[in-house]
Amino acid sequence: MSAEHSQVSVCIAGTGSYVPEKVLTNADLEKLVDTTDEWIVTRTGIRERRIAADDEFTSHLATKAALRALEQAAMDPAEIELIIVATITPDTLTPATACYVQQRLGAFGAVAFDISAACSGFLYAMKIAKRLISDGAFSNALIIGAEKLSSFVNWDDRSTCILFGDGAGAAVLRKASGPDDGEILATEMGTDGRQTHLLNIPGGGSACPITIENADKHLATMSMLGKEVFKHAVTRMKESAEKVIARSNLKPEDIALVVPHQANLRIIDAIAERLDVPYDRVFTNLQKYGNTSAAAVAIALDEAHRSGRIKKGEHVVLVVFGAGLTWAAAAIRW
Ligand code: COA
Repeated sequence: MSAEHSQVSVCIAGTGSYVPEKVLTNADLEKLVDTTDEWIVTRTGIRERRIAADDEFTSHLATKAALRALEQAAMDPAEIELIIVATITPDTLTPATACYVQQRLGAFGAVAFDISAACSGFLYAMKIAKRLISDGAFSNALIIGAEKLSSFVNWDDRSTCILFGDGAGAAVLRKASGPDDGEILATEMGTDGRQTHLLNIPGGGSACPITIENADKHLATMSMLGKEVFKHAVTRMKESAEKVIARSNLKPEDIALVVPHQANLRIIDAIAERLDVPYDRVFTNLQKYGNTSAAAVAIALDEAHRSGRIKKGEHVVLVVFGAGLTWAAAAIRW
């Protein structure tokens, strides 16, 4: 029996997601930069993405997703003990976006903080929350992946602006009261700080504050070496998914659904092939939303759950990858 299994079981009591109304299609991007729908679809699979309104911040998206997860879990915000928001696009550098979410929800009994692990953030939050619940520090947690990436995209850079979108996904975790509740069986996360240069937002932090002199250089926007990121993504996601599958004493054929980070269909295809999971057991929605970083796997999980792709008792594997580099996976019995 693994260390994870010897502790109190933690389950997912509800999921929720929210994407902004405004749709930005590949045809719209053709008018902004030198690109084509055909190039974007062939290289990434993305057809459109959502863009938040000017007065709609990451905390607004997060709160809407959270309310849906709480409703499904039949919980009142006042009952929530812990809020973790995973984001790289916080409303403000400080306080944490989780504090604004606490305020908007009226969840004043909760401890609230953010984590920054890029596209891996939601599963980092899941591992942290699971452990804090199983250790007895909290009896429940609201974990949220939320991003307003459109504020950090260089809309003149065709190699990155086609990839990203805005949105939020959430899950309520709590102590399981019995096997019928399901269980987060195993979680895994990793980091390789040697690769910070592959994907980052170089400006806007203490290393490179935005000044009048450099304000026009798009420094506070996403910068990426796409080909390198691609290779690492495939290797790390495969490895971490395999680890949680093995640690849960499962085999690939036991997995009803793999819900991967939604960055690129070619990355997802490569992982499905290497994991030996047929493509009809892999969930994708990046066609509609692009890469929404920490929100992506959370939105995908909620859509898979609400559309009936995940049934009670089935095993689901979540697997993600992002800047850092970071990666993470979770195996769940629903
Ligand atoms: N439209 C048309 N052409 C484009 C383009 C666009 N939007 N973006 C780049 N190109 C061009 C390049 O300029 C290059 O032209 P060149 O050969 O004349 O120099 C050519 O297309 C190939 O570019 P390249 O960057 O090598 O393409 P690629 O096949 O690696 O695809 C990505 C680019 C970004 C789609 C791909 O590398 C990728 O998805 N990487 C992973 C990114 C990711 O998932 N990041 C998030 C991780 S969390």
